[in-house]
Amino acid sequence: MTTTADAGIATPSTPSTPSRPGETNQHYDLDPRIFGLFLDPLRKYSSGMYRTPGITLAEAQEAKLHWVAERLGLTPGGGQRLLDAGCGWGSLILFMAREYQTAVTGISPAGRQHEYIASRAAELGVTDRVTTAVGRFEDLDLPARSFDAVTMLGSIVHMPDVDVAVRRARAMLRRGGRYYVSETCFRNAAARDEFDKRTGTEFVRNSIFGWGDMRPLSELVRAVEDAGFSVDDVEDLTEDYRLTIDDWLVNVSAAADAIDALRPGMAAQLTRYLEVANAGWGFTTKHYALICRNAR
Ligand SMILES: C[S@@+](CC[C@H](N)C(=O)[O-])C[C@H]1O[C@@H](n2cnc3c(N)ncnc32)[C@H](O)[C@@H]1O
Repeated sequence: MTTTADAGIATPSTPSTPSRPGETNQHYDLDPRIFGLFLDPLRKYSSGMYRTPGITLAEAQEAKLHWVAERLGLTPGGGQRLLDAGCGWGSLILFMAREYQTAVTGISPAGRQHEYIASRAAELGVTDRVTTAVGRFEDLDLPARSFDAVTMLGSIVHMPDVDVAVRRARAMLRRGGRYYVSETCFRNAAARDEFDKRTGTEFVRNSIFGWGDMRPLSELVRAVEDAGFSVDDVEDLTEDYRLTIDDWLVNVSAAADAIDALRPGMAAQLTRYLEVANAGWGFTTKHYALICRNAR
């Protein structure tokens, strides 16, 4: 495991201030064991891929990560370098380091996630390929044009300025490098106008995450186009995310006592969040992946 200092990655120029837009650590800095009680063994906190009937949550998450690797052009032993902005508990970076021998850098403002990743990287024997840095992707001083791939799975919703985030992603990529961003989106601008201030949306945004700005897909497409990316593909993952959340809900219910023992009331909070999320799919919300290329 390379630390922030020996990786040559600077600490944020602007320290995080609680409660301002983009401050989401209240959720991601909770005891990592809570997430181990309802996520898959990789602790991937984003959509799986359920294209094979009857597969489990763990299989759906591994299928998704292989699919992401393929979309990014990662090959086993290919020597590629990947930057994951919003790395969670390291599901993607540790998977790519192990399965594809990719040299990975993970970014997250949540310090406890980095402690968890460090211990898992040691257990998996991939410390030589894994670097992480604590801070916001927008603030960190990262080496430009150094990566073959940049990923953001479920993290751009926590970045207040989508244009800054996407332009930075492009600046990190070598020519021809790929950018994968997946996010939950309002179904269209009218749905945002109607539902952005509803009780359920406010509960998820404020009580669970602390801050987030869900946008329609058109806003993400505009941002990647304006940043100069060439869009290779847009994939609808809405049904995949609904099935993922169904599995998380079953797990939260089964582990409710253990979750509440770590944080009283957390099982009910998670259940409400996940039920609100699953009620909206296809009506108010969609989940998309955009695959883009730094074409020139
Ligand atoms: C929904 S989780 C997804 C984690 C991971 N991508 C996965 O699929 O499991 C969102 C992640 O984004 C991180 N995050 C939030 N704001 C961020 C920012 N400004 N820069 C980088 N990461 C951020 C959170 O700490 C969290 O790790």
